[in-house]
Amino acid sequence: MTNNTILFSPLKIRNVVLRNRVVLSPLCMYSATEGVASHWQFAHLSAFARGGVGLVFTEATAVEARGRITPGCLGIWTDEQADALAPITEFISSMGSVPGIQIAHAGRKGSATPPWAGGVPINDNMETWAESKWTTVAPSELPLGEDWPTPLALSEDEINKVILSFASSAHRAARVGFKALEIHGAHGYLIHSFLSKVTNLRNDQYGGDLEGRMRFALEVTEAVRENWPDNLPLFFRLSAIDGNGWEIEDSITLSKELKKRGVDVIDCSAGGITSAPAFRTNDDGTPMKSSSDRPLGFQVPYSEKIRNKADILTMAVGRIIYPEQAEDILQNQSADLTALGRELMHDPFWTLHAADHMNVDNPFELWPEQYRWAIVRRAELENYRSKS
Ligand SMILES: Cc1cc2nc3c(=O)[nH]c(=O)nc-3n(C[C@H](O)[C@H](O)[C@H](O)COP(=O)(O)O)c2cc1C
Repeated sequence: MTNNTILFSPLKIRNVVLRNRVVLSPLCMYSATEGVASHWQFAHLSAFARGGVGLVFTEATAVEARGRITPGCLGIWTDEQADALAPITEFISSMGSVPGIQIAHAGRKGSATPPWAGGVPINDNMETWAESKWTTVAPSELPLGEDWPTPLALSEDEINKVILSFASSAHRAARVGFKALEIHGAHGYLIHSFLSKVTNLRNDQYGGDLEGRMRFALEVTEAVRENWPDNLPLFFRLSAIDGNGWEIEDSITLSKELKKRGVDVIDCSAGGITSAPAFRTNDDGTPMKSSSDRPLGFQVPYSEKIRNKADILTMAVGRIIYPEQAEDILQNQSADLTALGRELMHDPFWTLHAADHMNVDNPFELWPEQYRWAIVRRAELENYRSKS
């Protein structure tokens, strides 16, 4: 595809070429059974591959059973779970997209109901959920909030086991055809809760100063990199700031250390360490009520800082909605990739429409051949611009 945009230019990371800079951000679907993907995951993820996205990430995929957020979360702690993902990676690849997986451990935010059932911790009085509840784990015995149960603090032995679970999950992911892997180190889940001095009160080697609090994230990364093929890219999602003491300078320091350990891209999200939002005020000082109050591209400045100060590729995410907006982010060198979540759910063919909208040459080239001929004809009939 010839064009003057960066959005529709390929990016090569290690041996993997992304056909454009549009990425499906990980989106929990809460629709797996015992961690095994259902038809939903196939239908959901294949839409974005058909829709021209460069890199399609799975939802947070748990590295152990108690690392799920809800009983319906996807897992990759068994071979059966991994095998169920193989048709998905095969289909995504056949469409010219790159299949990526986000591996995760929910820590103290686990054992909850899905958002449509409140997103609250499961308790014994919940008829539908009670039997599937579990005891959560964390760096320290601090509950997420008033109504949340107290997690168990992991011993050093248990920490090593969790690290091994991340490693074996990465190994399985490569076996079933994933070509990119992201470690979920954001949003208050286990890795982030080790990084934060608010949730990590340990006085062993995994707590204390920044070096101690980063140790778990870095050991997970080292173990994953050893079990993830050298020729495939590794992403790390962090909360660039969390509104509770973790600042952008900490993220820059962490990113430099991650880069030394073979991370290729920092995915720059924010918040999530407590149940309170990280973004408390608007530009005019008024409080933000909900995520929809957040301005377009509200996390892009974090991506720009990390990209420049840690000298590493970054992915921007968060209210990226318009093709021109995504292009500007790339042109301004604020990020190398743009990830979209809700906007792609709203329009899984966003990328195909964006190519047309941005006047790239052969805008229909990205469409699957099963659709392309008819879409070209539609364009001619409608007297649309058609260059294919
Ligand atoms: C339904 C839903 C599920 C999500 N699940 C995940 C997830 O599994 N892992 C993750 O890191 N972020 C998750 N997020 C956050 C998104 O990846 C993304 O960072 C966020 O929605 C902001 O991007 P957007 O404004 O384009 O939606 C989720 C968001 C939504 C709306």
